[in-house]
Amino acid sequence: MRFSILSVLSALSALGHALPNKLQTRDISADELSEFKFWVQYAAAAYCYDSYTAKAGSKLACSAGNCPDVEAAGATIVYDFSNTTLTDTAGFVALDNTNKAIVLSFRGSYSIRNWLADVDFPYTDPGLCDGCEAEMGFWNSWAFVKDPISKVLTETIASNPDYELVVVGHSLGAGIATLAAADLRGMGHPSTKMYAFASPRLANPALADYITAQGNNYRFTHTNDPVPKLPLLAMGYVHVSPEYWITSGDNVTVTTSDVQKLEGTVNLNGNTGTGALLISDIPAHHWYFEQADGCLGAGLPFRA
Ligand SMILES: *[C@@H]1O[C@H](CO)[C@@H](O)[C@H](O)[C@H]1NC(C)=O
Ligand SMILES: *[C@@H]1O[C@H](CO)[C@@H](O)[C@H](O)[C@H]1NC(C)=O
Repeated sequence: MRFSILSVLSALSALGHALPNKLQTRDISADELSEFKFWVQYAAAAYCYDSYTAKAGSKLACSAGNCPDVEAAGATIVYDFSNTTLTDTAGFVALDNTNKAIVLSFRGSYSIRNWLADVDFPYTDPGLCDGCEAEMGFWNSWAFVKDPISKVLTETIASNPDYELVVVGHSLGAGIATLAAADLRGMGHPSTKMYAFASPRLANPALADYITAQGNNYRFTHTNDPVPKLPLLAMGYVHVSPEYWITSGDNVTVTTSDVQKLEGTVNLNGNTGTGALLISDIPAHHWYFEQADGCLGAGLPFRA
């Protein structure tokens, strides 16, 4: 068989447009950078004990000092959830009158190392589209809390019809946030925005294409963070596009030239192309413009 450049290109294209081409990457703008540095603060807030156990009406605050702009906005908690299910989904719905936003934020799990050591990532049919399969743990995490949350969102949107709906999360919380946003868009909130920091893969190609086509997806990775490398491509999982790949080192202030926007559900120019998944690379998992899980720690249940 003779290989033409076209057949090579279409093979790469079938891989999810993983062309090793600089044209496929670009730096972000200053406005985008400040948006990203803002929304990660809502993901960070979900790690703070007071955020997912607070009473409705109380102000969001981060004991780790990593959500100053959310605090300055005076955002209040409308609804919080934790320990409600077997999957230990936790987080909050917040109302931000300064930025005219209703924010649904999911906390990452405490047992990230156990999750990385897991070998079994079964699929389930989320009922979102033909041939779509979602990672079962993430889908169940959302499915168990979906009814009360969507009721709260519907009421909150009815009282604030000009506000945008934003779904955020870091780590395993980002996996839940991605599926929640995809589902909510189909439930009458089509312009829901999604900010996923350090999300694992959670979709087969059909579902990843479906969520990608919905738009308003902002999925971040950092250098060689191992978490977005799981579940493996070989298990049939791919990512939602685009990827915003942060290339500055741990704890180094992120500038516009340190974030590249990469298209495709498999793109070897970003985190996916940084080599084998190594548990020793976990430090990269914490730094997403800031210490995203800085509120983890004292007094929190670290599940073995
Ligand atoms: C969750 O449940 C555990 C065990 O019952 C308890 O120790 C912990 O305080 C609970 N956490 C929250 C946020 O309610
Ligand atoms: C980054 O900051 C965190 C929290 O202060 C610290 O634990 C970690 O060791 C720092 N990492 C580097 C590479 O400086």
